[in-house]
Amino acid sequence: MGQPTPARSDDWWRSAVIYQVYVRSFADGDGDGTGDLAGVRARLPYLAELGVDALWFNPWYLSPMKDGGYDVADYRSIDPAFGTLAEAEKLIAEARELGIRTIVDIVPNHVSDQHPWFRAALAGGPERDLFHFRPGRGEHGELPPNDWRSEFGGPAWTRLPASPDPVQDGPSRSADTGGDWYLHLFAPEQPDLNWAHPAVRQEHEDILRFWFERGVAGVRIDSAALLVKDPRLPDFTEGRDPHPYVDRDELHDIYRSWRAIADEYGAVFVGEVWLPDTERFARYLRPDELHTAFNFSFMACPWDAARLRASIDETLAEHAPVGAPATWVLCNHDVTRTVTRYGRADTGFDFATKAFGTPTDLALGTRRARAAALLSLALPGAVYLYQGEELGLPEVEVERELIQDPMHARSGGVDPGRDGCRVPLPWAADAPYAGFGSRRTPWLPQPDGWADHAVDRQLDDPGSMLSLYRRAIRLRPAFGDGPLTWLPAPDGVLHFARAGGARCLVNLSDTPAALPDPAGILLASGPLDPDGRLPQDTAVWLRA
Ligand code: NOJ
Repeated sequence: MGQPTPARSDDWWRSAVIYQVYVRSFADGDGDGTGDLAGVRARLPYLAELGVDALWFNPWYLSPMKDGGYDVADYRSIDPAFGTLAEAEKLIAEARELGIRTIVDIVPNHVSDQHPWFRAALAGGPERDLFHFRPGRGEHGELPPNDWRSEFGGPAWTRLPASPDPVQDGPSRSADTGGDWYLHLFAPEQPDLNWAHPAVRQEHEDILRFWFERGVAGVRIDSAALLVKDPRLPDFTEGRDPHPYVDRDELHDIYRSWRAIADEYGAVFVGEVWLPDTERFARYLRPDELHTAFNFSFMACPWDAARLRASIDETLAEHAPVGAPATWVLCNHDVTRTVTRYGRADTGFDFATKAFGTPTDLALGTRRARAAALLSLALPGAVYLYQGEELGLPEVEVERELIQDPMHARSGGVDPGRDGCRVPLPWAADAPYAGFGSRRTPWLPQPDGWADHAVDRQLDDPGSMLSLYRRAIRLRPAFGDGPLTWLPAPDGVLHFARAGGARCLVNLSDTPAALPDPAGILLASGPLDPDGRLPQDTAVWLRA
């Protein structure tokens, strides 16, 4: 099993609880319908009370918001909808005073089409070399340079008009006339950078320093395994090794130089690395590369005891040789909310199978999500908590006309997109817009019943999801920082101890499970049977 290193103060990230703030939807300080930094600053006491160690902010930089801020026009300024750089600096300092560190989100694979580099490139400047421009194939260049697909659907290439256009509103999307094509693994408004160019590397190293100088303790790296492309830009052939743009060996050199910079500041990285190959995944976590990476296989794992146990074992086994701590993730701003996912026939997660109108049993999903919260908070490593998860918020089926996420439109309207997990938080049940702070309808409207999940209501209810999370985060140190040992348990029951610490039992079977020590209960995710046994979809923590 993984052998977590004993805690030191500069090792906070090895066992931290990290709360993800999607600023647009967290709290609206100025009432304009969009969450902002003023809203976050006002709610810092809430986050301190919850007991989290760090905040990860989704991109808060200047952005046309074609992909919720992952289309960055200037990495050194804050989008005016969110606030100012001075406010961000205050927020970082105020959080630190409450013992909470800040992690910012860096998006190195692409920029906004409104970024000065791309605008200069379109105007015919040498900045063209900072992107991937190519002539098209076919007699008149009317076919894209290769067959790569955008992660959001459709081709990964967009063609420019015949002559360079002094762009005011972004490139023309015309596909039948024209000039060269440019590569975008995501939306057309997110042109991919050319990481073979030294200026691209230099710029990102400067951006890292810019934020480390402002006191951020960590950086989340967006699309971390996609930056480097095969310079020949060949067609994608299933099984081609190496892949033309995923997990290229050249990436490791980039992250080694980033690590040297982070070490100067005592800062840490968490990589967004989606890779099925555990050995390849672990390479990013070698001691001179990234400190941590998100554990998406655990997140996507169905609610099944054997599969969860296998996922936990694989996670710990892949991290152990490189000495990196695991991370445990149940949800984020890209995936179906936990209580909804666990209330469906398919309890795993896969972008490809998202659909409108999926039947959901929210009571069942909530019971499981409560048990999953205790499971993940008992495991060795760091835990990520996505805003609203602590409130048990369900996924919202946003009306088609209101969906902003490009995944929806680019799937031809088949994929509901990711806005359903981005609906503004409810803070006060009886206030307008459930206390989000807006004076008008928020950027994504809240559905009926949203106020039932409000923070103020949950604070008064010892049986609420919020009360469970608050107690669990407070009690979590009872597990210590030792490794995990599986203990005997009936089929469908997960039972483990942490060395020198508490034990966790989760019953995923339909047979109630006897507790080894009913007197020693620290915390339970739901009521026990009248005879003291642990019912289905329930977890307990037991004292050492
Ligand atoms: C991953 C981010 O989590 C997602 O929200 C974004 O759309 C893509 N990367 C592109 O930046």
